[in-house]
Amino acid sequence: MKINNGFNSWNTPYLFQAMEDTMASFTEEQRARIISLGIGDPDIETPAPIRRRIMQEHREVYHGYPTAQGRLDLREAISKYYQNRFNVQVSAREVFVGSGAKTDLFDLNAVFSRPGDSVVILDPAYPVYRDAALYRGNKIVYISGTLANRYQPELPDETQLHDLALIYLCYPNNPTGADADADYIQSMIDLARKHKAMIVMDIAYADFVPGNTPSSAFSIFQFPGGDEVGIEVASFSKPFSMTGDRISWVTIKNPEAARFWHRYRANRDSGASNYDQVGALEALTSPEVKSIVHENFNTYGRRARILKDGLDTLGFQWTGLTNTPYAWFKVPGSDDIETARKILEEVGVILTPGSGFGPAGRGFLRATVFQPESRLEEAISRLKRFDFESA
Ligand code: MLT
Repeated sequence: MKINNGFNSWNTPYLFQAMEDTMASFTEEQRARIISLGIGDPDIETPAPIRRRIMQEHREVYHGYPTAQGRLDLREAISKYYQNRFNVQVSAREVFVGSGAKTDLFDLNAVFSRPGDSVVILDPAYPVYRDAALYRGNKIVYISGTLANRYQPELPDETQLHDLALIYLCYPNNPTGADADADYIQSMIDLARKHKAMIVMDIAYADFVPGNTPSSAFSIFQFPGGDEVGIEVASFSKPFSMTGDRISWVTIKNPEAARFWHRYRANRDSGASNYDQVGALEALTSPEVKSIVHENFNTYGRRARILKDGLDTLGFQWTGLTNTPYAWFKVPGSDDIETARKILEEVGVILTPGSGFGPAGRGFLRATVFQPESRLEEAISRLKRFDFESA
């Protein structure tokens, strides 16, 4: 058997798969006791009108293959979304419906970079950017986010770049919850233009606003030069609890880049399921869904408060919980993987080790709001019993 060399550079299993495997190793009784604040998978169910619409479509309409680019009605709804949300003109032609942001983020690397090209990756970040680059054989250049630079790391040293192909950014940021300043994004766009590179802007959390606080999210197409170098990746997963449906979109305004992506998508897969696309259309257009999501965000806001208060009492410095479902916090010691393991073993709480998001995540843990209030309170009281100092 011959295996793609890219596999060899994945020296650890996929972060969330490793956590799932650990869970599977416990008995059912042990699992019932465990409180998972690990993977970002909403526990509040998909709004009923979305589910009804998907079921109705299944009952009444037979669909053969979807189109590679996605249904026109959904792409038109996404153009309207851009207009209303960001005051940006995007035509349906520039929108590509996908089967989940994770797949899109991985595949974009295959189209817009070559082995050996430099790929700049925000650190810490969603591990898929790194895994795609390793698989491709890119030269990864991490730019390290810290509390001090508010997770807007300095631009890379340009002497280290060898044919810069891609810059992966994510704001509001997973895992840190950080926002970006306009001049920071502009400097990234200028860098990409200078090197004829593209920016993959992951906006999976643009519409996830616990407590319905005013969101600081933006679209890369609001910035001068954004049309030329921007590739925006968005997801229905978190705001609409649609992680199980696998539905996302990619927006590309650069016509040449859009042509390449379209061609790749048509050759590579047959498009997102029509049924999920119909559900996504309902998500964007139904007033009833809008009010359910508003209510859900109020719930997430109350949960975020519990985590904030708990982390304050524990004396940890934390970020996030305003524009993302995550709390990101520094714990004593630097071996976050070992600390997370001990927390699970001793008090039965799953937290994601920061190192899984990149070298700059070392010494941090991430917690989600995706548990009911009583479970979050219980998780905090268990963490208070845990001896962080000697972990
Ligand atoms: C997370 O950061 O929890 C991700 O959204 C999980 C994933 O998509 O693999």
